[in-house]
Amino acid sequence: MPLLNRVESLPKGFVWGGATAAYQVEGNTKADGKGKTMWDDYLKEQGRFSPDPASDFYHRYPEDIRLAKEHGLNAIRVSIAWTRIFPDGHGEPVQAGIDYYHKLFKECIDNGIEPYVTLHHFDSPKTLFDEGEWLNRQTIGYFVDYARFCFEEFTEVTNWFTMNEPVPLAYSQFIQGNFPPNHHFDVSNGIQAQHNEMLAHAQVVNLYKDELNKSGHIGVIHNLTPVYPISDTAENRHAAKLKDAFMNKFVLDAAFLGYYSEDTMSSINEILGINEAELTIENGDLDIMKQAAAQNDHFGINYYQNEFIQSYEGESTSHFNGTGEKGTSTFKFKGVGESVKKAGIPQTDWDWNIYPKGLYDTLKRVSHDYENCKTIYITENGMGYKDQTPTSDDEIIDDTPRIDYIDQHMDAVLKAREEGVDVQGYFVWSLQDQFSWANGYNKRYGLFYVDFETQKRYIKKSALWFKELAATMINE
Ligand code: BG6
Repeated sequence: MPLLNRVESLPKGFVWGGATAAYQVEGNTKADGKGKTMWDDYLKEQGRFSPDPASDFYHRYPEDIRLAKEHGLNAIRVSIAWTRIFPDGHGEPVQAGIDYYHKLFKECIDNGIEPYVTLHHFDSPKTLFDEGEWLNRQTIGYFVDYARFCFEEFTEVTNWFTMNEPVPLAYSQFIQGNFPPNHHFDVSNGIQAQHNEMLAHAQVVNLYKDELNKSGHIGVIHNLTPVYPISDTAENRHAAKLKDAFMNKFVLDAAFLGYYSEDTMSSINEILGINEAELTIENGDLDIMKQAAAQNDHFGINYYQNEFIQSYEGESTSHFNGTGEKGTSTFKFKGVGESVKKAGIPQTDWDWNIYPKGLYDTLKRVSHDYENCKTIYITENGMGYKDQTPTSDDEIIDDTPRIDYIDQHMDAVLKAREEGVDVQGYFVWSLQDQFSWANGYNKRYGLFYVDFETQKRYIKKSALWFKELAATMINE
C-alpha cells in the first residue's frame, strides 16, 4: 500500500529535504579563484565526463531553491567546497567563495529552506590529495582550520555535518578502486583512512562544542550498509560479522563510543591479518574521539542498499558496475566474503539491492547499540535510475519506480520512528539531477530532471509525490 494511503500525515516539524554535494552540482570549477580538487585532473585524464557545468547550481541555486519550496521541502543539504574557500586547503581565504556561500545560505533561509551544511563531501583539495590526503595526518590539522573558519564566518548556519561518508570514500579509493587514487584491496590504507577521518571529525566536534562553544548542531554522516548472511551457516554468519565491522561498526564505534570495542577490533584484526595489513592508532587519538563521542548533536544516515554475503577464501577481485549494465558487478574480498544476489530481492540497473528492511534494521540497531546516537536524520536515500528524456517543454517525467523506492523507505523510517527511534528528518538523494562520481551523468537521482545541455529543469512525478506528502505535515 503506498505510504500516502497508509499514513495520515508526516510528523509535525519533520525535516523534509533534498540533498546535494558541492562538486556534484555547482559546476563553475575553474572560476572565482577556486582551487582544484582531487577529481579535476583525474576526470580529465579519464575522459569519461566533465564536472562542468554539472547542474550549474553555482548560478541556478535560486531556481532550485524555488522549486524545492514550491514542492513542499523545508530543508536542503549542501556542502561547502573546501577549495572555494582555501584553494590549496590552507592559506588565505578567497572572498568570492565566501560571498557565494553567504548568498546561497541567505537564499535558502529567506525561502524557508533550512540549510544543513557538510564541510567535506568527497572533494579534498588536490594539493592535499597529492600529499596523501587523509593518510597524511597534516590534512587533519588543515581540515580543523578550515572548519574553524567556516564556523566563525557562516554564523547563519546552525546545522553542520563534519564529513560525508568516511567509509565509502576510503572504500572507493582503496578497496573498490573506483575513486582516485584507484587502489584495489589496499586494506591498510582502506582502514587507516577511515580512522584518520573519524579523528578529523572528532577534532572538529570538539572545536565546535568546547573551544568555540557554539550552540548549533553538529555530527557526522555515515553511509550504513547492513550485511546479512546469504544463508544461515556459521561461515556465512562469520563473513557477515567481518564485513559489518569493516563497513559499519568501525566508524559507528568511532563516532559514538570514541573507541573501538573489543568485538569490533577482533573482526578488524582478523581482516588485517588475512590481508597482511596494518592499522596505526596513535597515542591520544582515542582521548580526542572519546571527548567528541558524547557531544554529537545529531547523526546523518545515508542508506541505499544492504549486502548479502557468503564466505570466501580466494584472492580478492571485483568488477564495478559504473555503466548501469545490470548484472555486471562482482565483489570478492579475501577472507571476508563474496557479495551475492538473493533470489527475490530486486536490484537497480547498477546492481544495488532494493531492500527497505535494511533501513529499518539499521535505525533500530544504531539507536539500540549506541546511547550517544541521538537525533537522526536520513541524510541521503534515493534511487539511481535512467529517467526518460523529456520530449516537450512542459513534460512531467514519469519516475514511478523511484516513487516506489522512496515510498517503501519512508515507510521503514516512519515505522522505526513509531517504535521510538528518534528520526527527525529525511533528505532525498537528490534534490535535482547531478552527476555520479563513478557513473557520470546517466545515473539520475533527482526530484527535478536536469537537461545537462540546456540546464532546463523538468518536474518529475516523484517531486509531485513529495509535495503531496509534505502537504500532510503543513496542514496538520
Ligand atoms: C553517496 C554519496 O555515497 O551516494 C553521494 O554521498 C553519491 O555523493 C550517492 O552520489 C549515490 O552514489 P552514486 O555512486 O550512485 O552516485
